[in-house]
Amino acid sequence: MMRILIKNILNKTGEEVSLKGWVNGRRDHGKIIFIDLRDLSGVIQLVFTPACKDYSLAEKLRLEWVIGVKGKVILRPQSMINENIDTGKIEVSVEELEVITEAQTLPFVLDTDGREIGEDLRLKYRYLDLRRKRMSDNLRNRCQIIKYMRDFLTERGFTEIETPMLTKSTPEGARDYLVPSRIHCGKFYSLPQSPQQYKQLLMVAGLERYFQIARCLRDEDPRGDRQPEFTQLDIEMSFVEENDILDLVEELHIALVKKLYPGKEIKLDENNRIPRMSYQEVMKKYNTDKPDIRKNKNNSDELAFLYVVDFPMFEWKEGDKRWGANHHPFTQPKVKDEHDFKRLFEENPSQILAKQYDFVLNGYEIGGGSIRTHNPYLLKSIFEVLGNNPADIESKFGHMFEAFKYGVPPHGGIACGIDRIAMILQNEPSIREVIAFPKTGDGRDLMMDSPSDVDEKQLKELGISIVKKIKTINKNNK
Ligand code: AMO
Repeated sequence: MMRILIKNILNKTGEEVSLKGWVNGRRDHGKIIFIDLRDLSGVIQLVFTPACKDYSLAEKLRLEWVIGVKGKVILRPQSMINENIDTGKIEVSVEELEVITEAQTLPFVLDTDGREIGEDLRLKYRYLDLRRKRMSDNLRNRCQIIKYMRDFLTERGFTEIETPMLTKSTPEGARDYLVPSRIHCGKFYSLPQSPQQYKQLLMVAGLERYFQIARCLRDEDPRGDRQPEFTQLDIEMSFVEENDILDLVEELHIALVKKLYPGKEIKLDENNRIPRMSYQEVMKKYNTDKPDIRKNKNNSDELAFLYVVDFPMFEWKEGDKRWGANHHPFTQPKVKDEHDFKRLFEENPSQILAKQYDFVLNGYEIGGGSIRTHNPYLLKSIFEVLGNNPADIESKFGHMFEAFKYGVPPHGGIACGIDRIAMILQNEPSIREVIAFPKTGDGRDLMMDSPSDVDEKQLKELGISIVKKIKTINKNNK
């Protein structure tokens, strides 16, 4: 008999079924043994009476054993009906039981939301923590969010394109993770902080409408809404202005919430739109560039999106004692040309605004993007004022200038933080709750025990020798 999922036996009363899954609970009532069986689709009550030939095996069952049963779907007696679960009106009277694998006592219980358990223990046994309904719901709903984004964009003529993970540094403001090359000993790839340059090069390639569910890697200290690896909905479009991108992303997010989270209330402005405010306005009004503009901040079902536009192009980096790009250097400043730009920069860099925007939800930055500089002279001037000499510009970004010689369309884009969006929609306090295998606050994977030592042989092949092991990195030493 074919195994059937628990959710599919609702209309099979009177029929024989074969079920497989985990022991989710057990209760003995006199001679009758009740076992709750769990599979990916739900939980069902199994009933073993002494008439069952495998009754004595059923007596041995413990939590989280993996079992298979064959039996008949029957209606529960009126007094045993449980209105709280989908399968509460039925049960399966078991005729045959097979123990597939046994399980030791788990390091923690699974029938709570798990918030009371130390996170290190949950992360060490993540595969068990993910059996918890709250966690598996988070992963399933995250999948639905991503599917919605994918369908929405492909229906509108976007092409999903994968870009390399072994690449060259793109400045997004964090440190790069480096990967040593064996074939080109002494040289390094870097893991992408984002697909920024590749997506711009896809615009030169004429793809016009690109998106990617992109994994990004940034060597920075993790915190509640930041992980060293995270996922973006990355978008780039040609022949667009700022509002085209903002309108598209607005439509996508509103439609997504209405479809997948109909219980949530979206706070819009008087024109039924996501409000757009300039950076200057939000700073003046809220003293932060990602204000939480919900009416009632304790109401987790209220969603207050906000676009912050007109960011200053540059910010003063106190640590490095220099001006840096507020977003990234490919962002287009609001200037006429490179001469105008140089004059304004010399006068006062902070006066130059950029075609740059952030997408904010309930006080979190859930996205950011810009219209790009496609004029190579202006782009060169931006790299120069950021302190790059001509040789640096050539070695780091020569490929972009080369590409821009062959007919570059005006283009721009945005990237939305999928982990953060999923966290907020799932009412979770941290992005770790919506990521299957996240890192700890100090960047470790407690389950796999990484980062870890590697064999001397591997290092030798790469031409690497460890000079000195520094035990802990000073977190302020950015
Ligand atoms: P930016 O660096 O602003 O832009 O990133 C876009 C969005 O990604 C999310 N995000 C993160 N989420 C979790 N952990 C992190 N460490 C992390 N860092 C960023 C945020 C953020 O708004 N290439 C540009 C986009 C563009 O210009 O098109 C970029 O990556 O939600």
